[in-house]
Amino acid sequence: MKKAVFFSYKGGSGRSSTLANVVPFLFEGESKPSKEHPVILVDMDLDSTGLTILCGKSKEVESNPNAFTVSDVLEEGFSYDQQGLLMPVGKVFGQEPESVLLLPARPGDYKGRDNSSKSVGANAASHLKSFTKIWEKYGGYAIIFDSSSGDQETATQSVLNSNLIVCCMRPTTQFLEGTVSYFKRLSSQCPSINVLIVPTAVPQQEYVLDGRTYPQQAKATILNRFQAEFEDDESLYFDYGAIRRSSGVSFGVPLVRRFQWEECILKATQSDSKNQDEIDAMGTYRYIAEKIKDLGEE
Ligand SMILES: Nc1ncnc2c1ncn2[C@@H]1O[C@H](COP(=O)(O)OP(=O)(O)O)[C@@H](O)[C@H]1O
Ligand SMILES: [Mg+2]
Repeated sequence: MKKAVFFSYKGGSGRSSTLANVVPFLFEGESKPSKEHPVILVDMDLDSTGLTILCGKSKEVESNPNAFTVSDVLEEGFSYDQQGLLMPVGKVFGQEPESVLLLPARPGDYKGRDNSSKSVGANAASHLKSFTKIWEKYGGYAIIFDSSSGDQETATQSVLNSNLIVCCMRPTTQFLEGTVSYFKRLSSQCPSINVLIVPTAVPQQEYVLDGRTYPQQAKATILNRFQAEFEDDESLYFDYGAIRRSSGVSFGVPLVRRFQWEECILKATQSDSKNQDEIDAMGTYRYIAEKIKDLGEE
């Protein structure tokens, strides 16, 4: 089973939006998900349950205290007879309902009274591993985590359960430095992992910030910074393909106007008219989907 996580060191970087838009592209090509081999989406972001919202399941989860959520798995574990408790959400992605299953999150779980984060419990890591193992045995096509940000426990657990980190970042100095220092810490803890760097919401027009011209200068800055820092690193394998692919002045996932106010899944399978930034964004989503499809069965 393919295992990937959409990660960022900080919130608001487009993890949930990018993940949701990549899913339809997993259904392109020869080997693809199906009802028998579903994609399992896991919302690990208990602070901001973006994936659950994008899948249209937040009201259902909030109004039903018995809805089965990721907190149940982290606390109690998971067993074979519970497979039917995940939510079929394939329709959101233009697919058969049961070809994509969601393990949603309920906002506010693990918040103390003062709104600080509480621990997810001592057994959470092993419960998440066994959840993954069960889907592996059951023939899951892929498991994809929408991670919480940075060093949060749930982020670390999703990262350590995955064979590919799709690292979303805005093309700014703050994101760049935060992301670099996160991976420096990670590299000392993990044996070996592939990281796809995906700049998100990259402007289509040139603009000047802090005396630098963006986004073209940002592209070179990001590449140089990662290469200088991780050239000799033996545990992280960076893929810069999403940075290199570009049209016009933009790269990665361009800033898509439509994402700023509407339901933000581009529905690749639908043939409504798309402007250039949307077409470029879809090119990067397809690139990410191909990287996930390329993952082996380990
Ligand atoms: N490519 C993009 N262009 C424009 N806005 C975007 C883009 N990607 C994400 N956004 C917007 O940025 C905000 C944060 O995105 P989200 O996917 O929720 O990030 P995260 O999951 O990292 O917190 C949302 O309002 C979303 O609509
Ligand atoms: Mg999110």
